Amino acid sequence: MKSKEELRKLDVNYLFHPTVILEEHEQKGPRIIVEGNGLRVKDIDGKEYIDAFSSLWNVVIGHGQKAVAQAIMEQLNKLEYFSPFYGFAMPPAIELAAKVISLMPKEWNMGRVLFTCGGSETNDSNIKIARMYWSLKGKDQKKKIISRNCAYHGLTIGSMVATGIEYFKMHFEPLAPGFRHIMAPYCYRCELNLTYPECGIACAKALEEIIQKEGPDTVGAFIGEPVMGTGGTIPPPDEYWPMVRKICDKYDVLFIADEVVTGFGRTGKMFGCMNWNVRPDLISIAKGITSGYFPLGGAIMSNEVYETIKGGLGSIMPFLHGFTYNNHPVGCAAGLANLKIIEEQHLIQNATKMGAYLADRLKGLYDHKSVGDIRSIGLMAAVEIVKDKQTKEQIGTMPMESTHRIEDLMWEKGVYGRAMFENIAVAPPLTVTKTEIDTIVDALDSSIAQMEREML
Ligand SMILES: Cc1ncc(COP(=O)(O)O)c(C=O)c1O
Repeated sequence: MKSKEELRKLDVNYLFHPTVILEEHEQKGPRIIVEGNGLRVKDIDGKEYIDAFSSLWNVVIGHGQKAVAQAIMEQLNKLEYFSPFYGFAMPPAIELAAKVISLMPKEWNMGRVLFTCGGSETNDSNIKIARMYWSLKGKDQKKKIISRNCAYHGLTIGSMVATGIEYFKMHFEPLAPGFRHIMAPYCYRCELNLTYPECGIACAKALEEIIQKEGPDTVGAFIGEPVMGTGGTIPPPDEYWPMVRKICDKYDVLFIADEVVTGFGRTGKMFGCMNWNVRPDLISIAKGITSGYFPLGGAIMSNEVYETIKGGLGSIMPFLHGFTYNNHPVGCAAGLANLKIIEEQHLIQNATKMGAYLADRLKGLYDHKSVGDIRSIGLMAAVEIVKDKQTKEQIGTMPMESTHRIEDLMWEKGVYGRAMFENIAVAPPLTVTKTEIDTIVDALDSSIAQMEREML
């Protein structure tokens, strides 16, 4: 292996990084991570860190689980890949599709899985499937997609437009047409300045209003994360999803549940929608399906959607959407091994138990003058930082000044938490222990205190 100095130089000269300030990256260079075990990762200088964000919400089973590496190697040694087009299949993809469907409540009546390579590609696939569904039902106008402000659905051309955070769209115009946004169920910063529960869940009613405004015959699908992630870890009020489902049923609008973050136990249930017993028509999965051991996502459709598409296309026309790496056998072998660990190690039960402990420990942070709101569900939590609890203004003139500082201070203390706009998010692997939660919350606590001394 090359020396660390050589690697840093090569990185800066050749590797392009997503979501960094390019000039700053060239000055600072990369943080090179070389090993991982459980919640711990080690950098190239040998320093250990607790990964309190499951890397990018995805390393659900923790780092270094050898059974997944072994499953990947076994599949690679048997067959690395064969085309998924024209009806070919490999055993791990067949088994994983059946397994994923078996994990869903029967009453959802989910039918087929198309495995992809990640979340954005999956959301684009589901948007296309929703449009094809209406087209084949003879409703060619029913193509608009409704999503929400603060939503994050990925950054491909389609999923980026569904994303409701304008920051991610700058300089990438022109944007694909046919998307509309409504307000998020973000009680702490309600767009209408209403208070729960007197608000009557106006954020859910906003869906009905926009469908009526646009015309029900033009709206094909509503896409939403059961719990908004990147937008700030925003669990909705309990009434929200049942109301949304009713509105979707009333106006014949498909509900695409973006379970990319919430799928596979993150919220203390196998899928986020299970927290509110809400049935999706299409589901997007990624991240936790392989815990990052191999890139994999999946577009899941209900039997009703599948049968409509099958019947509509008939006996001559193929389903003309797909990618070279759909149903990849190595990814699917990783997925099977990953799900086995989630089940055998009772990680969802642990997420519920440790999630309650995390929520309890986080409450103590309200003593800080800059902590405006704390939100969590299962092992998905965020602490919102403000200059003033009354005005809820941000600290500093630029977005994320205080949260980036907190993230850096936590990193210096050996804990990886993630700045997301004015929030610090923590979402550790589902294997987390109480002692590890204590270390994470202590680092967050002292980092917030230090940021306040420096910036307030
Ligand atoms: C809810 C949600 N959907 C979709 C995506 C996009 O996934 P990917 O980055 O794998 O394309 C993400 C990524 O963080 C996400 O959080």
